[in-house]
Amino acid sequence: MRALVTGGAGFIGSHVVDALLARGDDVTVLDSLAIGTRENVKSAADLLVRDIREPLDDVFAEIEPEAIFHLAAQADVRVSVERPVEDAETNVVGTIRVLDAARRHGSGQVVFSSTGGAIYGECDAPAKETDAVAPLSPYGAAKLAGEEYLRMFNRLYDLNHVSLRYGNVYGPRQDPHGEAGVVAIFLGAANGNEQPRIYGDGNQTRDYVYVGDVARATLGALGHEGGVFNVGTGRETSVTYLWDRCRQVSGSELDAVPAPARPGELGRSVLDPARAARELGFQAIVELDEGLRATWDWIRANRKE
Ligand SMILES: NC(=O)c1ccc[n+]([C@@H]2O[C@H](COP(=O)([O-])OP(=O)(O)OC[C@H]3O[C@@H](n4cnc5c(N)ncnc54)[C@H](O)[C@@H]3O)[C@@H](O)[C@H]2O)c1
Repeated sequence: MRALVTGGAGFIGSHVVDALLARGDDVTVLDSLAIGTRENVKSAADLLVRDIREPLDDVFAEIEPEAIFHLAAQADVRVSVERPVEDAETNVVGTIRVLDAARRHGSGQVVFSSTGGAIYGECDAPAKETDAVAPLSPYGAAKLAGEEYLRMFNRLYDLNHVSLRYGNVYGPRQDPHGEAGVVAIFLGAANGNEQPRIYGDGNQTRDYVYVGDVARATLGALGHEGGVFNVGTGRETSVTYLWDRCRQVSGSELDAVPAPARPGELGRSVLDPARAARELGFQAIVELDEGLRATWDWIRANRKE
């Protein structure tokens, strides 16, 4: 299969690329390298350094992709709050450019990387795809707009694009500045023998899902008739417990430093994975400790002296 992976030089995208290459697919990565790096892209894949804010017709005409995994994004919530127009240029207009070029060139299905945490807002229980949405940042609003464009393209042109609402993804190659870099920050602190900060009471929970599971879910969405799916574990992990597990895995003996709560930070965020299990046959299988260990091993192997 000829696959195009936008954002394939980034954290999650590069794992999607690896999973496609492992299947023997023909992979082209399109990435501006704003955040992603050449080192993240295996040499078996072609890398096009391009920006999704610019026209993409020549790329689609040349590659004729049968599947498009759209992971290029401005993925930093704080940047979106500071510069909402810039965020929307990539996350809304860039997504429309990908959808429009794919349609006009008769390309295959688009699988779009959306977000659970930034779309559902505060959760009383694991969020279902049918729950009300309440984005609390320009990033969340832009991702929701992207989903609506996919839905609308499906209706208007009888397509079968899929949006995946990822939980807090963690694993090797994560940049600590991304949307959900807390694992990278904690293990990075342990590696540097520094004390990380825990904001507020530390009881905030998130649904941490390992990047290998996320890549598997992303490939697994191909062939579905179209829709929106949560990609998470259904389990909540508090920040305090996460640092405890990071200490265990890294052997750090340091305590975290308490810091004032950050205004607007979500108290609970967790995704109900039942629809993806039912319709995509997807289940997250990597346990937290196992995923943290793989991430720690990568940090140790790649640390700069
Ligand atoms: N990391 C998470 O926990 C998480 C959670 C939910 C959703 N997501 C989504 O998953 C996707 C991948 O996230 P990630 O964590 O790997 O982030 P990342 O920043 O590592 O990857 C995004 C990639 O997009 C590229 N990019 C940015 N702007 C671009 C542009 N205008 N044109 C072309 N390329 C551009 C970057 O260089 C980078 O390689 C994003 O869409 C993100 O919103 C991530």
